[in-house]
Amino acid sequence: MDLAERYQDVGVIGAAGKMGSGIALLLTQELGLRKLSPDGREQSFKLTLMDVDDRALDGLKRYLRGQLRKFAEKNTVRLRELYADRADLVENAEIIQAFIDDALDVVRTTTDLGALSRNHMIFEAILENIDLKVKIYDQLAKQCGPETYFFTNTSSIPIGLLDEQAGLGGRIIGYHFYNPPAVQKLLELITSSKTRPDLIEAGKQIAADLKKKVIPANDVAGFIGNGHFIRDGLHGISEMQALRAEVGFAGAVYMINRITQDWLIRPMGIFQLIDYVGIDVFQCILGVMDRFIDDEKLHSDLIDTLMDKDVRGGQRSDGSQKSGFLRYEKGISAVYDLDRGDYVALDAVFTEPLDEKLGPLPEGYLPWRVLARDRAKDEKLAAYFANLAKSDTLGARLALRYLQRSKEIGEYLVRSGVAGTPQDVNGVLLNGFYHLYGPINDYV
Ligand SMILES: NC(=O)c1ccc[n+]([C@@H]2O[C@H](COP(=O)([O-])OP(=O)(O)OC[C@H]3O[C@@H](n4cnc5c(N)ncnc54)[C@H](O)[C@@H]3O)[C@@H](O)[C@H]2O)c1
Repeated sequence: MDLAERYQDVGVIGAAGKMGSGIALLLTQELGLRKLSPDGREQSFKLTLMDVDDRALDGLKRYLRGQLRKFAEKNTVRLRELYADRADLVENAEIIQAFIDDALDVVRTTTDLGALSRNHMIFEAILENIDLKVKIYDQLAKQCGPETYFFTNTSSIPIGLLDEQAGLGGRIIGYHFYNPPAVQKLLELITSSKTRPDLIEAGKQIAADLKKKVIPANDVAGFIGNGHFIRDGLHGISEMQALRAEVGFAGAVYMINRITQDWLIRPMGIFQLIDYVGIDVFQCILGVMDRFIDDEKLHSDLIDTLMDKDVRGGQRSDGSQKSGFLRYEKGISAVYDLDRGDYVALDAVFTEPLDEKLGPLPEGYLPWRVLARDRAKDEKLAAYFANLAKSDTLGARLALRYLQRSKEIGEYLVRSGVAGTPQDVNGVLLNGFYHLYGPINDYV
């Protein structure tokens, strides 16, 4: 079966979730465009969006409609060409509406897994739970045809394990979109020793069709993205714990978060990033990595304690950020204090003595959002990090140790075969985490 035929019957499982809804959008757009292409006019397309949450599926339909409108508005020139034979479509508004209707026409939503039995390709984005994923794949293996391809969005579970436990015979590949899938360009492509070569080729072609940048990763729990992020986060936690005796829990969280955002010129501090991903998700990925990676203890008692206290981070269904290490009210407004079990306001009384301890930022510092748009950012970063290396402040010492650890993690990922090259590690951090420089660099 060729890829064009596979595109005619596609499914998404967990379609109403954070990642699933973005994947559903990308596929709705792609199938909508294929339907209008010269070859596509002779074919029929079906996209089955499955989730156990019926109400969330209603929300998904509204989300798709709204996003398709934005997509069509940005692509009116192309759509006008595709609708060239439709004399009835004159105004842009008519073309946009026609595309929304045509694209949504391929979509069906369902809560029944059985509805996916005729799909040629299934994209899965259900919860990061090994037993649940194995159970679903086990059922899919029984109900789908022997040629169906499976694309799992897991961010940590070994693909070979899912393949083996569900008896998929090499028909599953790791297809790790980044959040949000419709916006993020990066796609980590994870193949196990069993993944069929034809599926790898199809995976690359689909990524090209969806305008994604593919970085390959080997099948080791956590892959490249979480392989770096989780260890980087554990380093942040251990540095924070070391400072805690001197400045208290909240002070230490504040300081390390500042080091990782300002001194390292990253888009977010490490504790903000853990909150964004979700402390619960961090704990879950940590657990999976610890289970499958033998030569390293990957665990954090602190993360377990925060979860016991229901300090979880993550986002609400409207996309707003929930409190975790930090509280968010028009920006970061407070820091969690484990010692008091409450949040401490980030006012000058709290921050000034801590900022003083860290010392001034090295010369040449520019915030991430400014440097990100600067054509001369590489030279400016090199000059800034040279100044950082010469500084003798607490902030500079913490930042240098952080850079060193981040580099060690990157080099370990290459040495242990998770990533093929240093460029692949750097590429994931640059494209998936919006860092301005890769962890494997000459700055330390
Ligand atoms: N959130 C991220 O930043 C991110 C990034 C990359 C990869 N991932 C991976 O994507 C997957 C989904 O994560 P998410 O953050 O979108 O989770 P989510 O909780 O937002 O969505 C999961 C969806 O799966 C549905 N679901 C649960 N059980 C189901 C079942 N038995 N059958 C069908 N649907 C079911 C839920 O109703 C929900 O809509 C996970 O494997 C995760 O590791 C997440």
